[in-house]
This record gives sequence, structure tokens and C-alpha cells, in this order.
Amino acid sequence: MEKFFDLHNHMLCRVDDGASTEEEMYQMLDRSYQDGVRGLCLTPHFSPSMFGDTRESSEKAYALLSAYAKKKYPDLELFLGNELGYYDGCQRALETGICRTIAGSRYVLVDFSEYVGFFNLRSGVGLLQRSGYKVILAHTERYRCLFRKIDWIKSFVAAGGIVQLNASSAEGAWGFGAKRQWRKLLRLGLVHIISSDAHNLKNRPPELSVCMSYLKLHCTEEEISLLTWENAWRVTRDMAI
Ligand SMILES: [Fe+2]
Repeated sequence: MEKFFDLHNHMLCRVDDGASTEEEMYQMLDRSYQDGVRGLCLTPHFSPSMFGDTRESSEKAYALLSAYAKKKYPDLELFLGNELGYYDGCQRALETGICRTIAGSRYVLVDFSEYVGFFNLRSGVGLLQRSGYKVILAHTERYRCLFRKIDWIKSFVAAGGIVQLNASSAEGAWGFGAKRQWRKLLRLGLVHIISSDAHNLKNRPPELSVCMSYLKLHCTEEEISLLTWENAWRVTRDMAI
């Protein structure tokens, strides 16, 4: 069975629009482990206008989940981070630690609205990079403004940007455009990390294996290992990838 590292998911309960009960959180972790996940970074949304200050609720849920995992899955590693929903002035939240980087590293998982304009996305990413953060662009395949901006994605990667894709987009969970972009980015070698971005058990489950049949047809074993394990592992150690 493959071994996965899930760097982006919303399993922590009662923090954002992810797991809504403690029970659901534990069931999501069970499903994730059964799927082959052995490393996990919990990344609740950091979006003060939508969810308020979630520091306390996320730490509380993380403590519960860690205790559960320690008992049941001793070979599973857990880390804590956030998915920063970009807004003007969000660097301040990173500087003060209100918004977490990934496992205390210089890597920040950043999300924009699916319908963000290209210039806003580009300037937001640039601002964070100039502030010294290593930007991981969450579910890169979903931004419509990037469907025809492969050259910009190439320059983003050349400047140290990290491209994360959602496993579920491989089979069209986010529509045809996202599926086509997912495959194109992979073919061009512009992808670093594939994660679940799981929110629940029903329609956004914590599964990485959904994209394996595609990966096995189009990537080498070494590439698959980088995409589904090693690069995410290195991020949590603040190592270059
Ligand atoms: Fe997410």
C-alpha cells in the first residue's frame, strides 16, 4: 500500500467548515489512515471575517485528535498549520502568530477565492514572498484566472513557489476546467504536493488514493513519492523542496 502525507485538510472539529463533531473528526482520521496516510498537517481556514479567531478552538481540537492518534495510530505523525485565506494586510497575522505557518516553518499555505482576478492573486503571492514566506498555493488547479496563465505558474515555481493540487480534482470533483488544469500542470512538471483538502466524510473525504490510477499511468515511482509524501514531509521540517 502507498504511504501518503496529507498537508492540507480540515479535519479539526468545530473550527471552520470542516468536521462538525468530535466523532466526525475521529472518523475522518480513521478513513485517512486506512487510505494510507502516515503524515498529516491539520490546516483549518484562517479567515477572520468568516470564522473569527480560531486559535483556541483549533488548539483544543488538535489536542483531542493528537491523543486519539497517539493511542490508535502510533506510526502517524501530526502537525498543525493553517490555510490562510488571503486578504489585504494578512502578513500582520503571520508576523504576530495569529495565523500559523505550516508546522512553524517558513512555508505558508495560501488560498484565494476561486474567482480571484489574476492581478490580485499575483500581487498577493508576491507580497508574501517579499515578506520572506515560502508560498504554497492551495489547490492551484482551481483558480480560473490561472487557466491560461501557465507562464506565470512557471515563474512562480522558478521563484520558489510551491504548487499544491487537490487529489479529488484528478477525476473531476472540481469541474472539467480544474481537471484539465490538474493534468496539464502535472504533465509540465509544475506540481510539488498533492493533498486531500478534506472537509467531511460525504462529499470531500480525506482520500489521496483517488488520484493514484492517474499518477501510476503518467509518473515514475520516484515522482509519485515526491508528490504524495516526500515534499510535504520536507515542508514540515522547513527544508527546501
Ligand atoms: Fe482547504
